[in-house]
Amino acid sequence: MRYPSWERLETKLYQAPRGIVDTLPGEMAYWRFIEQKAASVSALYGFERIDTPTFEETGLFVHSVGEETDIVTKEMYTFNDRSGKSMTLRPEGTAPVCRAYLEHGMGNLPQPVKLYYLADIFRYERPQAGRLRQFHQFGCETIGDADPALDAEMIDLAWQFCKTLGLSRLELKLNSIGCKKCRPAFIAALKGYYQKHADRLCRDCKLRLERNTLRLLDCKQDACQPLTRQAPRNRDYLCPECAGHFSHLQHYLEILGLPFRLEDRLVRGLDYYTRTVFEIQPEGGSSQSTIAGGGRYDDLIETLGGRPTPAVGFASGIERLILNLKKEAVAVPPLPAPHIFLASLGEPAKEKALRLAADLRKKGFAVLGPLDRSLKAQMRLANTLGVRYTVIIGEEEVKAGTVQLREMAAARQATVPVKEIENIIRSGDLASL
Ligand code: HAM
Repeated sequence: MRYPSWERLETKLYQAPRGIVDTLPGEMAYWRFIEQKAASVSALYGFERIDTPTFEETGLFVHSVGEETDIVTKEMYTFNDRSGKSMTLRPEGTAPVCRAYLEHGMGNLPQPVKLYYLADIFRYERPQAGRLRQFHQFGCETIGDADPALDAEMIDLAWQFCKTLGLSRLELKLNSIGCKKCRPAFIAALKGYYQKHADRLCRDCKLRLERNTLRLLDCKQDACQPLTRQAPRNRDYLCPECAGHFSHLQHYLEILGLPFRLEDRLVRGLDYYTRTVFEIQPEGGSSQSTIAGGGRYDDLIETLGGRPTPAVGFASGIERLILNLKKEAVAVPPLPAPHIFLASLGEPAKEKALRLAADLRKKGFAVLGPLDRSLKAQMRLANTLGVRYTVIIGEEEVKAGTVQLREMAAARQATVPVKEIENIIRSGDLASL
């Protein structure tokens, strides 16, 4: 590969690739808030964190997500490594977790194994608000048990997570897409129905009819909507086992008081699902705005070479959560501002301030300064940065072994001995001086 010369690099203004964004410090309060809630809610349900690599062998995703899915046919970031092996930046988190479950013999642990992750995900989609090419998911997987109570628990976790973030205008949509035993009959019925109306289908749906019939139900084109409304319903084709599983699940969701709505057209964009599928959307939203989605995938581990191992999970897009937090004007806790700004006047004071800054950091205070600016400029900056205290050191203070300690919000200031700073700040006792 040839690289541009350094001179050219210097003149070029680079931008982040399309659909890939920077997360700037001003946004970090949202990220910290969501990541902390993800960890604390996961812990409440007994999930442990797993981190899998950013990229995996391409075959893992092709065989799990499905060869005919949009993700595999159009959206993966795939490249050959230097040995010529095909690798793919993870386009979703479930397959890597299942690969790790098998690779580390987690089938020998007490089942189910409950894992959560916070991971960046890559899909070459058409970028728009809430749809990025690199985005982040919080996801949970319960592997090793088919009990519908675990589907209910997973849906409850996803729902409570959104609720504890402060989101309130949400809808929970639920469907069952059966298993490999009963789904073929449904697909055949669906195909028969759509074939009769093939001339009215959009171009993509004509392809789906042959390759990925289930996804016909998910078409967003206006032209296909009237047809889809009349299409056969999956739940009318469930085998007795799947029907029983689905009715138990609904019963458990009622016990948990979750306001789900049956949605016959909910099919999801990944092929590994069996039985339960669900999505959480903002009220009045569509699958394009889904903030969390998941379901059961009882055959995936076997497809990847393991023993038959039922599993259920979901993932939620962090950028979409942030969009919705902003839309609903949810206030998130601000990140703590640095405690102390050290302002100094003159070289001896600056040297003393440097030493004091190091000392205060060792004691656990976040300290900014000193800077080579006028005292006025340093004070203005301290104000703008929102620090709780400013420590001011001038010539007088150097001689006396004291500092001026200023509590910014109260505009209260006192002369205090250097060795008293820690006590006074910790006790918040400046007022009594
Ligand atoms: P998914 O529905 O493809 O499912 O993605 C989950 C969530 O990721 C979506 O509901 C959405 O919030 C977010 N998301 C998807 N695409 C984008 C995008 N281009 N930009 C921003 N956010 C996006 C899965 O990935 C499954 N692995 C979920 C799962 C886990 N199923 C079982 N276990």
